[in-house]
Amino acid sequence: MITNLHTWLILRLVLLWLVLSLVIGTLVQYLGNLRLDNQIVTMAKTETAHYTDAMTTYLRSPSGPALAEFNHRIQVQMERDNLIAVEFYDGSSQKITEVIKPLAIEVEGKLPRHGTEFADKNGIVYKKMTLGNDTFMRVFVPLFNSSGTKTGYLEGIYHGPTEVIAEIKRQSLWSLILVVLVILATSLALYPLIIRLNRNLVDFSKNLALTNIGMLKVLGSAIDKRDSSTNIHNYRVSLYSVRIGESLGLSPTAMQGLIKGAFLHDLGKIAIADAILHKAGSLTEEEFSIMKSHVRHGEDIIRGYDWLQDALDVVRCHHEKYDGSGYPEGLTRGNIPLNARIFAIVDVFDALTSKRPYKEPFSFAVAVEFLRNSLGSHFDPEIAQLFLDHAEDMYAEICTSDEELLHGKLEICIRKYFKG
Ligand SMILES: [Fe+2]
Repeated sequence: MITNLHTWLILRLVLLWLVLSLVIGTLVQYLGNLRLDNQIVTMAKTETAHYTDAMTTYLRSPSGPALAEFNHRIQVQMERDNLIAVEFYDGSSQKITEVIKPLAIEVEGKLPRHGTEFADKNGIVYKKMTLGNDTFMRVFVPLFNSSGTKTGYLEGIYHGPTEVIAEIKRQSLWSLILVVLVILATSLALYPLIIRLNRNLVDFSKNLALTNIGMLKVLGSAIDKRDSSTNIHNYRVSLYSVRIGESLGLSPTAMQGLIKGAFLHDLGKIAIADAILHKAGSLTEEEFSIMKSHVRHGEDIIRGYDWLQDALDVVRCHHEKYDGSGYPEGLTRGNIPLNARIFAIVDVFDALTSKRPYKEPFSFAVAVEFLRNSLGSHFDPEIAQLFLDHAEDMYAEICTSDEELLHGKLEICIRKYFKG
């Protein structure tokens, strides 16, 4: 179980690491790209600003010499810049001049084409494009005179500096690696923490189970003290029940309900008056009616406690009979819960073979004969037959043992089925 827990936890932490790495990694990548774009936009913006001054000067008094001077200025500037093409247009979108580097001629055909959709824009427009490992930015910059009238615009293609872009990409990659490593370290740190917390939780659950079992024993003991002054009846019927439950192949969950029910089956007798409970002679009809109410009292007592709900079948139905002549409901056959059908047999067998205030114990043979004669009437015939098949061994093991020995055997059963 512990190994399964470790495997379970490792798988989930690895899954958590992968999912978080994917989600946060994508976010980091996105932010890296955004930073790269902003960086390129800033550089492109800075460089195009070098040309707007020259263009504004030319547009102020356009002439042949002014154009020659303008061409000279922009060619000198282009030698220093990363702009690979720049075109200048006047206010009516007529091209004034252009400078195009060889790289622009090479790549322009491969870049997405555009029309004059930006010509009437009054703000700077940037459009990023990638070609292989290179990043280009198409830039549109409107120009205005001192009175705010648009006098033209320039369009350029900016080639992002390879080394700058590579550096930003390298930084993004390191950020990504760092994020993945931090998530991995966090997951690794969580592993012992979760294992520790789980161990504490398991210890707490075990303590809680031991507390519940202790409460079960105390209640069972209280009933026995009230009824017969020893715990031994409860121990015996619990052990008989476990042996039959195991022969029937009951699940551990059903076994828990059977053991709890065996301990608490007569809990309701706490509410029965001594005059009736300890009466040496036969009960009157009215007294027997009151005695029968112990199953309802028992049900009422445990109904409010969740941990005891699986004991209800035995507490409520251990006096039901297979042919419907029992109480409180007069249930028949399979309508009687399985645990109650098992317990009814062991309860009667132990009552027959035990000493009671009003009788001496019957011999094993008499008890067996009684059960045999009650197959199909009082008891489920298949379960009762199974009990009879093992009765001799169980009688030798259980009926002849003292209270301490039985308590030890029962502790083993409790550890087995309650994992205490
Ligand atoms: Fe009872």
